[in-house]
Amino acid sequence: MLYSIIVSAGLENIAREELSARFADTGHLKILERKPQRILFQYAGNPRELLSLRTAEHLFLILKRIPKMTRSRSSLAVLSGSLKRLSFKEGFECCRQVGINVRKRMPFRVTSRLSGKRNFRRLDLQRVIERALSERGWYLASTKAALDVWAEVHGDDGYISIKLSSNDMAQRPYKQAHIPASLKPTLAYSMVRLSKPHPDDVFLDAMCGAGTILLERALMGRYRYLIGGDVSTEALDATVTNFGRKHQPRQFFHWDARTLPLQPNTVDKIVCNLPFGETIRNIPQLTNLYRHCLKEYARVLKPRGRMVLLTSQRTLLDDELEQLRFLSVRQRLTVDVRGKQAWIYVIHFA
Ligand SMILES: C[S@@+](CC[C@H](N)C(=O)[O-])C[C@H]1O[C@@H](n2cnc3c(N)ncnc32)[C@H](O)[C@@H]1O
Repeated sequence: MLYSIIVSAGLENIAREELSARFADTGHLKILERKPQRILFQYAGNPRELLSLRTAEHLFLILKRIPKMTRSRSSLAVLSGSLKRLSFKEGFECCRQVGINVRKRMPFRVTSRLSGKRNFRRLDLQRVIERALSERGWYLASTKAALDVWAEVHGDDGYISIKLSSNDMAQRPYKQAHIPASLKPTLAYSMVRLSKPHPDDVFLDAMCGAGTILLERALMGRYRYLIGGDVSTEALDATVTNFGRKHQPRQFFHWDARTLPLQPNTVDKIVCNLPFGETIRNIPQLTNLYRHCLKEYARVLKPRGRMVLLTSQRTLLDDELEQLRFLSVRQRLTVDVRGKQAWIYVIHFA
């Protein structure tokens, strides 16, 4: 069966790696294409397993892909016409496997997405798919139980898919307490992945907020020790709530990350979402924070350690790294954070 996962902009390669790492050995996976915010693949196993992907925002079963969509309205007819003779048997079996209740007269609703210049509107796309499925005996409904059909046209590609994931695929049950500017779990997971987790890791997030990065690390596999800290007691309370009693050994500190109460060369991995300047708007203050934190991170990091930092203040971070010649940026990824451009830096000792 053909599937796609939707990921945040900039995380496509990490999502592809996760798919391969988790499912290539099963012999059931064949990755077909990497598109902006989307990975297309075939999977012969149970789709329920795919719901555990941690980079993905959504999982879709693709019923039909039309690879040559043009601007013209006639390509709409091609897309809807392709549903006329389509067998839903295997697709329905996939739906059952993820717990969707399938019926002969299937209640459904259509969500449409369109990008690029077209001679038709998003609503035209939606209507033709609604009509085509109604002609197959399905009926339009807005109930919770209705099948979520997505009709999308992006570039040359048209897709008609069924959304298999619930809206909270990308949410995590641990996230009970929130703070403003808390990181998306999918992005936190991707940063942790870039740190190349190892069972012996002493892992630090010195500005842990609600603890998303630390929790994603805890859930990713064995570690030696987790250390988190924050200058805000509200943030620390949120971390403690989100951890509950699970994931030992770990320790949380109320601290200023500019002076860490940690011995030199004791931490293997530092993964941190640096303040973007939304709360600290004062540039000299933000510069001071970045400067002193970087020095502290470099002091506590072991010589073969790794830092993975997220910031929207690229110039500021670049300027500060310029002063610390013993650090070297191995990778820099452009990502989208709440609609704002940001960068993930992977840093080693030079
Ligand atoms: C962008 S948020 C991190 C969000 C976190 N990754 C999450 O998912 O919840 C930045 C955090 O840095 C903390 N912070 C700001 N300045 C700090 C400092 N000097 N020392 C320690 N923490 C600081 C803030 O209180 C805030 O919780």
